[in-house]
Amino acid sequence: MRLVLLGPPGAGKGTQAAGIVEKYKIPHISTGDIFRKNIKEGTELGKKAKDYMDKGLLVPDELVVEIVKDRLTESDCSEGFLLDGFPRTVAQADSLNSELESMEIKLDKVINIDVSKEELIERAVGRRICKDCGATYHIKFNPTKAEGVCDVCGGELYQRDDDNEETVTKRIEVYIDQTQPLIDYYKEKGILADIDGRQSIDKVFSDIVDTLGSVK
Ligand code: AP5
Ligand code: ZN
Repeated sequence: MRLVLLGPPGAGKGTQAAGIVEKYKIPHISTGDIFRKNIKEGTELGKKAKDYMDKGLLVPDELVVEIVKDRLTESDCSEGFLLDGFPRTVAQADSLNSELESMEIKLDKVINIDVSKEELIERAVGRRICKDCGATYHIKFNPTKAEGVCDVCGGELYQRDDDNEETVTKRIEVYIDQTQPLIDYYKEKGILADIDGRQSIDKVFSDIVDTLGSVK
């Protein structure tokens, strides 16, 4: 199964990705996670990406595209993959198309998670992530059993640097301007599945599973 998760910041892409990759046994490729790992490790790529991310802007296409191309040729992607947060511009989508064509494979579905702007801000600002295993929580919508401690591994929770109201608002503007056009782009290719992301986490997941039911 070869999938793309599309949706504005805070729509629930990472949350749903965790369930999808577990159910369909495919690798999760999140460009945001790749950049955050590089920032943490202090790599050149991390240094270049950090400025853009802190401002809520997209990292330049040329930095992103090569990373994803390399990742897709790794052996664990041969049976499928879930791209989360990529592509994010028409140029990235065009590059992905040519790469997949050269590999003689196609995307099965692009899952578009839709949520209103007000809710996106509340979701992102209240998000907390486990430092150790990366599990995602929300102080109100998906709290941990013990405050500040991961349910899965007992790790400490942190808040992303770009999850403040000002940066989230900027990220939403950037999404509308540069990423939203991909909805029509993939609709025209006949592989877009719209999912109502305003529902509970479990209901969003079961809608995604239903829409993937037709994919072999
Ligand atoms: P990235 O890490 O991709 O962030 P994003 O797209 O802004 O998405 P988020 O991770 O913020 O949200 P999400 O949709 O995964 O939501 P989540 O499941 O956590 O990118 C970060 C930055 O990296 C970008 O700004 C850019 O600079 C750079 N970058 C990355 N990829 C790039 C690319 N391809 N090109 C250029 N630059 C790139 O959920 C959010 C919260 O809501 C959580 O707290 C969760 O618990 C809660 N929640 C989830 N679902 C529900 C629900 N149904 N009901 C209630 N609460 C819910
Ligand atoms: Zn954890």
